[in-house]
Amino acid sequence: MQAPHPPLRTYYQTERDRSAWVRGVFDRTAADYDRLERIFGLGTGPWYRRQALKHAGLKPGMTVIDVGSGTGLLACAAAKIIGDPARVTGVDPSPGMIEYARVPAAMRLLSGSAERIPAPDCAADFLSFGYALRHVSDLSVAFAEFYRVIRPGGRLCVLEITLPAGSVRRALLKAWLNGLVPRIGAVVARRRDAPLLMHYLWDTIAACVPPDTILQALGGAGFVEVERHVDLAIFSAYRARKPLGPAFD
Ligand SMILES: C[S@@+](CC[C@H](N)C(=O)[O-])C[C@H]1O[C@@H](n2cnc3c(N)ncnc32)[C@H](O)[C@@H]1O
Repeated sequence: MQAPHPPLRTYYQTERDRSAWVRGVFDRTAADYDRLERIFGLGTGPWYRRQALKHAGLKPGMTVIDVGSGTGLLACAAAKIIGDPARVTGVDPSPGMIEYARVPAAMRLLSGSAERIPAPDCAADFLSFGYALRHVSDLSVAFAEFYRVIRPGGRLCVLEITLPAGSVRRALLKAWLNGLVPRIGAVVARRRDAPLLMHYLWDTIAACVPPDTILQALGGAGFVEVERHVDLAIFSAYRARKPLGPAFD
């Protein structure tokens, strides 16, 4: 088992309690998510998401599954590149996030998780997973599931915020995400739990396993051409490809 971080006991007690707690906090803050994201995203807005997907190999006409789709920010960025929202399926465990998603009518949003994706084998040319890796219970289970639903030769893009190297940068990021943003959130958000969500997100970033562990887990799931691209020292884009098969790769 490879959890992305140990249980965070300020919020829930055991690994078994994690998924229900995470679903609850996203449910309760879904109405505020897009507004908060514009504040804490620090540039991970539509432009960054589109660039990251393009660099990971997303092209017009492809079929995409966006896991951890939330309110649909990454799924909508994918639909813009593909040119057809009907080719994008979002999957998320939080009914609240799905309810508040503002996506084109043709885009399907399904209840599910990284560990259990409601799609047949080899269903997608491309799978995206934005800022949700810290919420799964087991990286190897999630990556095996991604491998299952991506077609041979298909591609994967995982976006995450990573702790930067160096104590000054880390302190600055903490002051922003765990200090200022929750305070701004308390003022601008409609839901009382918005600051709690922000503190939780910071704690998951601070406790997350290092990038090498994520790269190794992707390789261990069978992906090839596994790489990490970093922007502004904190925005990590993990890219990988599912092999075509022994006769081709
Ligand atoms: C920070 S939001 C990111 C939403 C969207 N991908 C984006 O780019 O803005 C994280 C999302 O991950 C979802 N999530 C939580 N646990 C998950 C799991 N085990 N598998 C997939 N998604 C999960 C949450 O419900 C939430 O919608």
